[in-house]
Amino acid sequence: MRILILGAAAGGGLPQWNCGCAHCDAARAGRIPALTQSSIAVSANGMDWAVINASPDIRGQMAATPALHPTGPRDMPLHSVLVTNGDIDHVAGLLTLRESQPFELFATPTIHVALDANPMLAAVNPALVPRRAVTLDQLFDLAPGLSATLFAVPGKVPLYLEGDTVDTGLIGENTVGVELTAGGRRALYIPGCADLPGWLRDRISGADALLFDGTLWDDDEMIRAGLGRKTGRRMGHMAATDSIAALADVPVARRIFVHLNNSNPLVDPASPQTAQAVAAGWHIARDGERIDL
Ligand code: MLT
Ligand code: MN
Ligand code: ZN
Repeated sequence: MRILILGAAAGGGLPQWNCGCAHCDAARAGRIPALTQSSIAVSANGMDWAVINASPDIRGQMAATPALHPTGPRDMPLHSVLVTNGDIDHVAGLLTLRESQPFELFATPTIHVALDANPMLAAVNPALVPRRAVTLDQLFDLAPGLSATLFAVPGKVPLYLEGDTVDTGLIGENTVGVELTAGGRRALYIPGCADLPGWLRDRISGADALLFDGTLWDDDEMIRAGLGRKTGRRMGHMAATDSIAALADVPVARRIFVHLNNSNPLVDPASPQTAQAVAAGWHIARDGERIDL
């Protein structure tokens, strides 16, 4: 199994267009690596690829990724796209993929309802891009030689569907993780997760790789930096300090933070928090990285 990090940032990216925080300024100046928004590509054979989460940056991500370049006048090695929730940073890129290109579009039934409610997404022609509704905890073929299972993780509905009260600990079809299996290897991709209860730690245990929600380092870092009014918990993301602790005793061969918000000190390779995460056995994903399992 080969996994490519197309984008390691959370929604907004690094730098975020309207943000003048120290990290975004450093990324603009080239002092720390810029990061595009949340997406990976996965293949079992190096020829047929599944993209997991279609970020608003997908056009540039594909251009920067030779494995995803066209192989003929209108031939693409893209087999399928899977989205793990309906958040804008994970689905807006679908609009970019509208040029009469066949691929399968996988999501839970609930996420498909959210996508189908947007008339603009009909531009991604369903005759060429069949919508595949995936039942939780049922194995399916994501690409040749690559199987996947979606499982619920604690989370919430997309921001644009939030009502007056928001349950950030929903466990259902709105926010899912993906278990990827190929060639006897098992990887888990969980870019959004509000909590790590025992049953989820059991599921993660023994994985060859875990790509996990690294949105925030501290729950209140956005508030303290004057970048927003929400905690990570309110956004459906547990702090990395908490996930490092919760997973400390869970055996995983490679543990990798993805979906990094621009407020997170892990975006700075020289920060003490990066050193702390690395010392705890974590790798911090960067755009363009390759993980071979
Ligand atoms: C999130 O991960 O919390 C979302 O991407 C927020 C958003 O949709 O802007
Ligand atoms: Mn996000
Ligand atoms: Zn910023």
